[in-house]
Amino acid sequence: MKEKIDAIQAEALARIAAADDARTLEEARVGILGKKGTLTEVSAGMRDVPKEQKAEIGQLLNASRSAITAALETKQSALQDAADAQALAGIDATLPARPVHHGSLHPLTLIRHQALEVLRRMGFALADGPEIEDEFHCFDALNTPADHPARNEKDTFYFDSGKLLRTHTSSVQIRTMENQAPPIRIIAPGSAYRRDEIDATHLSVFNQLEGLYVDRDVSLGDLKGTLEYFFREMFGSETEVRFRPHFFPFTEPSFEIDVKLHAKGQAPKWIEVAGCGMVDPAVFESIDAGRKDDAFSPEKVTGFAFGMGLDRLAMIRWGIKDIRLLIENDVRFLRQFA
Ligand code: PHE
Repeated sequence: MKEKIDAIQAEALARIAAADDARTLEEARVGILGKKGTLTEVSAGMRDVPKEQKAEIGQLLNASRSAITAALETKQSALQDAADAQALAGIDATLPARPVHHGSLHPLTLIRHQALEVLRRMGFALADGPEIEDEFHCFDALNTPADHPARNEKDTFYFDSGKLLRTHTSSVQIRTMENQAPPIRIIAPGSAYRRDEIDATHLSVFNQLEGLYVDRDVSLGDLKGTLEYFFREMFGSETEVRFRPHFFPFTEPSFEIDVKLHAKGQAPKWIEVAGCGMVDPAVFESIDAGRKDDAFSPEKVTGFAFGMGLDRLAMIRWGIKDIRLLIENDVRFLRQFA
């Protein structure tokens, strides 16, 4: 039995050593360790080994099996290495790799991130509201009378249900005040919709950024300081900012904000970037009428609000002449922001 095992092992190792490809090696493995393999067959002879020799022969068989298995594994990885080396022969690993095209953020996303970052540094927290609004949150609660032109069917997308696509993000002011007591300091970026004729400066959907600050003793000075700081952070510390008296139903006094643009080769000009003002007490009163807790009593709190077009800010920042570029997804345009 001993000699038999030795002979089978010697033959097996020789066969493994001679195998020069994966298939021959697999055939050798099956021929030795498979169901009818030489070592399997000799192992079956254990039955007839006298009791007192079983331990010794058993050990011998195990040692033989380990030696053969080890030889198989070593040979297999040697064959694999050789195959890998052959596959790599002729490849110049020092050639530069093919460039990977990274995507980039859309200019609107970039400008929104930057604007939010500046305002969050000043303590404004994100707020949100639905794009499908009701007339109450979009107009009535914002002190906008039923005959105001913004409510006209010509200017606003209405649903049969009487709901509408919000014409501005100012509705988020109302929703926030309904659910939160002062102090409030929020910003709400989001889409707004108007039935505008589409051209280089108008789309029927655009992106606004709303802000609202309500607390004790909030003053017009706070409003000016906050927004001047904001626009200088956005467009550079030298940026000139101008507040022009204007009218909004929900703020009093109200202003439009212009920044002075110095485009290359052109006379500097003022460009309108935002609307703002001190929250009209009528808005606070309407909120309190719903809340019934007097939290927004104009005796106790004041506030300011502002709203700006992010599309407009992006166009100013990068000198984009046509707002439609922002929605056409032309990679030749978008790639410039990578
Ligand atoms: N909602 C106004 C608009 O869309 C902007 C605005 C917001 C004005 C907040 C004053 C205060 O034009």
